[in-house]
Amino acid sequence: MRIITTESYDELSMAAASIVAGQIYLKPASVLGLTTGSTPEGMYGKLVAVHKAIGLDFSKVTTFNLDAYLGLGADDPQSYHHFMQKHFFDYVNVKPENIHIPDGLAKDVTGECRAYDAAIRAAGGIDLQLLGIGRNAHIGFNEPDVKFEAATHKVRLDDETIQANARFFEDETAVPRYAISMGIKTIMLARRVVLLASGWEKADAVKRAVLGSVSPATPASILQLHQDATIIADSAAASLLPEKFQHGEHEI
Ligand code: F6R
Repeated sequence: MRIITTESYDELSMAAASIVAGQIYLKPASVLGLTTGSTPEGMYGKLVAVHKAIGLDFSKVTTFNLDAYLGLGADDPQSYHHFMQKHFFDYVNVKPENIHIPDGLAKDVTGECRAYDAAIRAAGGIDLQLLGIGRNAHIGFNEPDVKFEAATHKVRLDDETIQANARFFEDETAVPRYAISMGIKTIMLARRVVLLASGWEKADAVKRAVLGSVSPATPASILQLHQDATIIADSAAASLLPEKFQHGEHEI
């Protein structure tokens, strides 16, 4: 596992965007696993800027989002479809037919999950999976005590996640209780994984993910076993790591 600690959120966003841009330059037909939430907003902004400035070409890229709330359609302003359009897809040239986000209105949720994993396989697997991290160390919506061997599946959000995500809704009661999420297995099958963590409230989760034992109680800890996992943390999110990891780049 590699850890990159940046001085600021802006630097974190730039570091993440550079990895994505590098991936696309090296392999224009890359398959990207994408994440939503506050943390990647800066990265998407930088990628849009690079696309506009020097024409970073997404026309051959295929994308699979990590997760989607159940009960929200693509047009719902709180849906992850909407998030992705607003922060990224509206400004770059990813072809609409190459964009995949689980259908939050699927009638047959199990079938939707199976079809999602099959579509990832048919695309050749994920080259680069981007992740955020929850305060409880969730990745995707794989909450503590998730089964590591799960593929894409229906999940119930933890109370802590519902509280954390209430800021995007009118109030806590409006936050959907269920979602479809790539499972830990789906994430671990990606050839490369980059997790972004920003802010003090993520510091404990980062510490447990990086230095704690690998356990379903800390879903992100599984990345210690991934062959090519990088954590990019800003100084606040890295603040509970040993001093030597609080600046620059390190292999752990
Ligand atoms: C989002 C996702 C979640 C978030 C995590 C952090 O698609 O799967 O795991 O990455 O909850 O969210 P923020 O960045 O809003 O703190």
